[in-house]
Amino acid sequence: MPEIKFYKHEPIPLEMHKVKIVQQLKLLPVDERLKKMKEAGFNTFQLHNGDIFMDMLTDSGVNAMSDEMLAGMMKPDDAYAGSETFYRMRDKLEEIFGIKYFLPAHQGRACENILASFYVKPDNCVIMNYHFTTAKAHITRLGGRVEELVKEEGLISKSNLPFKGDIDLDAVKACIEKETPENVPFIRIEAGTNLIGGQPISYANMKAVTELAKSYGIPTVLDASLLQDNLYFIKMREEGMKDKSIREITRMIADLYDIIYFSGRKFGFARGGGILVREESLYHAMEDLIPMFEGFLTYGGMSVREMEALTVGFDESMEMDVISQGPQFIDYCVRKLDEYGVPVITPGGGLGAHLDAMQFVSHIPQDQYPAGALVCALYICGGIRGMERGTLSEERNADGSERFASMELVRMALPRRVFTLSQTEYVIDRVKWLYDHRELVGGLRFVHEPKTLRFFTGILEATSDWPEKLAAAYKADFGEDQ
Ligand code: F0G
Repeated sequence: MPEIKFYKHEPIPLEMHKVKIVQQLKLLPVDERLKKMKEAGFNTFQLHNGDIFMDMLTDSGVNAMSDEMLAGMMKPDDAYAGSETFYRMRDKLEEIFGIKYFLPAHQGRACENILASFYVKPDNCVIMNYHFTTAKAHITRLGGRVEELVKEEGLISKSNLPFKGDIDLDAVKACIEKETPENVPFIRIEAGTNLIGGQPISYANMKAVTELAKSYGIPTVLDASLLQDNLYFIKMREEGMKDKSIREITRMIADLYDIIYFSGRKFGFARGGGILVREESLYHAMEDLIPMFEGFLTYGGMSVREMEALTVGFDESMEMDVISQGPQFIDYCVRKLDEYGVPVITPGGGLGAHLDAMQFVSHIPQDQYPAGALVCALYICGGIRGMERGTLSEERNADGSERFASMELVRMALPRRVFTLSQTEYVIDRVKWLYDHRELVGGLRFVHEPKTLRFFTGILEATSDWPEKLAAAYKADFGEDQ
């Protein structure tokens, strides 16, 4: 959406859509929320959605669909093999990315499973700008390792750098030399780098790293799950890009890679996924894995209805009026919190606004999961469900010690076209209140700790009665019923 001028005040983000179907929300009183948080084992993944006012856990599979996407869902071709729905989806992807071969999969991590199963052998080293939890888990599951070589400044929370997802090219070269090219099965570049605050990577950096990989004969893989946000930032922030269309930029990016995969829960605004493969021989070498793990080659575990919605969603992802909504709301949220002195990741990226828990609750030691504690506090103090993106989301080292995350973030996702600006204002207000009462937030410890992806199913408890004290302070300011 272009910046719309206002007569009386500075521009604010303006929705370029209207709401046609709504879901009623309720705001439980604070004591109820405290109870629900305890029942959920201080893990926001374990909360029931009906107990949440603002569900900012993720943008995955919860973006609002358009009328055109819903209309598309009325014309699926239900066939086990050879579904016309599949060919429509594949052709749309080819039109956008210029890559002919498409392997469907039920979601992003399924693509990661296929790619890791195909490529990764024990002790292989996969180079990335930054890992994503499931991408890494599939590689380590097979005995591989991950090297994250994002530039150092990408991990500095307060900054005005436009592309904090850029990879350090010297470090990539040194890593390949050290490992030898044969031990690097692929280089994975993540658009809209999720775990460091949805920060974009520049086209120039993608071009340089893929050229480097090619010079060593190493395949390049783009995780395009958050591509739509990254596209917006390239157009808005990168030199020489503002006059190019989103489609042109997408094509320039796609031309750099051997393989592109995506979660359709993000890219395409519905639910699904898939892998685009440039070389016919590589496609055939991988195709057997789809019927084995996902479903037949013309649906890959997706529902045909969702596939039709995605096909429309891909087109919508190429429209600036659509893809700018998320980043503009996030920017609004980040700027206001920053003005209030709340430690947030700047500049605003895609996906959501990110609180820097290391600073926000600097009194909580990292082995008591500061971001995990803060995300629980946010639910107690506003019915807002965010997601921990820090040490809790890591897995322990082989010797059982904690692997401390380089950043402790609380992510408040802004699923696309879902929340209004007044709801965003409410979140900003409650975060500010929490910041002013941050000394009341204490740590967490595990009661039940799963070995893999522990943040999904782990059960924790508070290290003291801090949640009760926090709820009491909240009640004193807002009353019992809020
Ligand atoms: N890659 C990225 C960059 C992601 O953000 C995700 C999911 C995946 C891959 C996996 O895709 O969920 O369809 O299996 N991110 C979600 C999130 C879960 O909440 O950030 P999936």
